[in-house]
Amino acid sequence: MKRVFVNGYGSIGSRIAQFLADDKDIEVVGVGKYSPDDKVADAISRGFKVYVPKNKMDNFKNFRVAGSIEDAISNCDLVIDASPGGVGYTNKKTLYEPANARAIFQGGEKITGEKSVAQFIFNSRVNYEKAFDKQFIMQGSCNVTGMGRIIQPLKEKYGKRIKRLDATLLRRWADLEDSKTEIKDSIEWTRKPHHDDDVKSYMGADTPLFIRVFKVPTRQMHVHLMDIRFDGPAPSVSEITDLYKNEYGVATLYGVKGTKDIRDYAESIKFSFKDTNMIHIHADLTEVQDDVVKITYSDDQTGIVVPENHLLMQAMLFKRPRDDAFRHTEELFHMEEKKRALENHFRN
Ligand SMILES: NC(=O)c1ccc[n+]([C@@H]2O[C@H](COP(=O)([O-])OP(=O)(O)OC[C@H]3O[C@@H](n4cnc5c(N)ncnc54)[C@H](OP(=O)(O)O)[C@@H]3O)[C@@H](O)[C@H]2O)c1
Repeated sequence: MKRVFVNGYGSIGSRIAQFLADDKDIEVVGVGKYSPDDKVADAISRGFKVYVPKNKMDNFKNFRVAGSIEDAISNCDLVIDASPGGVGYTNKKTLYEPANARAIFQGGEKITGEKSVAQFIFNSRVNYEKAFDKQFIMQGSCNVTGMGRIIQPLKEKYGKRIKRLDATLLRRWADLEDSKTEIKDSIEWTRKPHHDDDVKSYMGADTPLFIRVFKVPTRQMHVHLMDIRFDGPAPSVSEITDLYKNEYGVATLYGVKGTKDIRDYAESIKFSFKDTNMIHIHADLTEVQDDVVKITYSDDQTGIVVPENHLLMQAMLFKRPRDDAFRHTEELFHMEEKKRALENHFRN
């Protein structure tokens, strides 16, 4: 039995903690909270011990907290850091390195420059085994994870026949449960997005990938438009559809009108947190024009990285063979079942 502490209990941390609680190989030491709000009571009511910063103990006197964040870190085999983007770096310096703890960071952090948390971005489709002995690893962000699931099968099948991958990412403005963020009536663009370098860090620097990023006023999901240019005639639509048939965490859907259709369906059949945990290729939008294949897929921002964290945790803590790790993740997340349900529902 290994002991895991989840530092941060927001959109990502609360999901990770909830799934880990059902993992018989793991004892969840507890979760880290920084604000004395309703989510403290929520965590306690779900059976989690709550740890808070030593210097903020007084703010939490109305709650039954279990101890300090420092106590939790010294008492675990792995920290899963789920703090707001950039804060993971501070935690690494002030908490994890002094305690010689191992940690997983989330996709809002950096892997280059002064404030890098790790040298390595994890993607279970690409580099599972390379995670075994590292102290610090960053799980790619939701967009970065989704792009790996699309590009790796293409790369394996077509290799150097792919001349360019041009992706336009339409990012959701805020998450469904994020009531603090107001959604502006605007489309905003991101200058120098991190996604390009992040994907290339694990797919190879020579990946001919070019990305543009826009933030759009929705809470539902991200959508990526990817154009794949081949050296010579492009494969057929059916060849591309077949490529993703058996891909873990990729559903191929028809007749979806928009991202909310998928979320509503996920809610109606009671997927945990209304998440599908995957990407959805909108197959009736796939087009081939001469040497270019155009793919459109949506990416479940909050859900997709949660099973990835679970796979990464197994690599770091147990060095479990990849297939065994996927089997174990499947027992908790039921991704194959969700994929079948989605594909049956959105057939045309
Ligand atoms: N949301 C997504 O769709 C998504 C998808 C993929 C990756 N990510 C990445 O996952 C990370 C977390 O995002 P999120 O959406 O879960 O954020 P979030 O909902 O804002 O939650 C952040 C949590 O971190 C806690 N926190 C505050 N200061 C902290 C500290 N010093 N150390 C540890 N935790 C601290 C907050 O606690 P209090 O509330 O108690 O202050 C809150 O529970 C980010 O790197 C983000 O880029 C997010």
